[in-house]
Amino acid sequence: MATMFNVYNPATGELIEEVTAHTEGEIKQAIKKGHLAFKKWAAVNAHERSKLLRSWSQKVQENKESLAKTMTLENGKPLAESLGEVDYATSYIDWYAEEAKRIYGRTIPAASESKRITVSKQPIGLVAAITPWNFPAAMMTRKAAPALAAGCTFIVKPAVETPLTTIRLIELAHEAGIPTDAIQYVNGRGSVVGDIFTSSEFIRKITFTGSTPVGKQLIKNSADTVKHVTMELGGHAPLIVAEDADLDFAVTQTIGSKFRNAGQTCVCANRIIVHESVLDVFADKLAKEVQKLKVGNGLEEGTNVGPIINKKGYEKIVSQVNDAIEKGAQVLTGNKYDTDEEKGYYFVHPTVLKNVNSTMDIMHEETFGPVAPITSFKEIEEAVEIANSTPFGLAAYFFTNNYKTGMYLHDHLDFGIIGWNDGGPSAAHAPFGGMKESGLGREGGIEGIEPYLETKYLSVGNL
Ligand code: SIN
Repeated sequence: MATMFNVYNPATGELIEEVTAHTEGEIKQAIKKGHLAFKKWAAVNAHERSKLLRSWSQKVQENKESLAKTMTLENGKPLAESLGEVDYATSYIDWYAEEAKRIYGRTIPAASESKRITVSKQPIGLVAAITPWNFPAAMMTRKAAPALAAGCTFIVKPAVETPLTTIRLIELAHEAGIPTDAIQYVNGRGSVVGDIFTSSEFIRKITFTGSTPVGKQLIKNSADTVKHVTMELGGHAPLIVAEDADLDFAVTQTIGSKFRNAGQTCVCANRIIVHESVLDVFADKLAKEVQKLKVGNGLEEGTNVGPIINKKGYEKIVSQVNDAIEKGAQVLTGNKYDTDEEKGYYFVHPTVLKNVNSTMDIMHEETFGPVAPITSFKEIEEAVEIANSTPFGLAAYFFTNNYKTGMYLHDHLDFGIIGWNDGGPSAAHAPFGGMKESGLGREGGIEGIEPYLETKYLSVGNL
């Protein structure tokens, strides 16, 4: 008998849909199908693959409103953000529809007249993806589009909290003409499906967006079959405000970075590090603007901050805030909660904390919630030291109009994504990914198709 799992609306705790969890046999069957479909899909010429991706993109846009509504229902983010995410997801399909036609090889001058040397690229094979609940559309297309563009077949396991958006996106890919075995989904618990994926000899690559501990486990488990891996893992982004920064602009950008998706993003500002000379003014301005954010059901007009995805996420946020307050942090706004454990919803009101220091958990752990902790610095070297004092290295932000300060920060911050006077650098045409324990590899940009390609070197002799 099929096992089912429930998908709930995190804004109300109501059941949205029951979804079938695939059995081990069904998952292995899907893997086999993806493997068998590979040679055929890889042989489809790049211009045709590009055309099919463009048709997928068009279908996604035609279904934008309903996809966005599904996303808000299962994830909780405000409808405007979901609509934005459908566009963001589409932009990856569009970008890689074009990159499909730009998979170039090269010719290398040989050291002898009797030889010719060429290098070509070929798709690596069947790719398995595990995607997160925080961006149910964009994190899937950011992986599927380059994989399909490269000629790989693709199978995804969406998060159990938010499978519905992914299922719909894959149906649309099939409606667009992409063969059903070239892009598939399977449902189930991450640990179960993850083990089946990593132990499969047919899967040549695992691509994952999620937490660092799970990513480490997937890397370890992929070793036995020496799979390629791309890992987009946790972040703990610093946001530095220099003494010369345009404070009003910095406040707006900080709010965009910090409170998007209720702070449940890997790249959101997690430690706000402000020069002591502008600390009070910046903190007051930020708190004043944050108070205006409307918390509520993402389907209601004007909502800026939706619910926290689940109890576990909520408890982590509350524990970090309480720990900071116990250790001397000052609450400028927030520290208010609207929850109903019985019904199953958890809202955290946007919170700004001042006088935060390095003894507090919030300065060391990813929060994944709408809490902005502010600390201060005197010299720019100290700001860099605070910023880099983490095993994470995904995104960092700074605000300064002084080009020397800006270049110094760019050169010294150990992060894969840097926003200089920019709280929203993510884009399909740019490489997204982290240093240190934030991950391996890049997604997006021209870099994002490389992990789906093998390099084949040909040396022709005796000419
Ligand atoms: C993430 O939080 O993992 C992705 C955010 C983005 O693509 O901007």
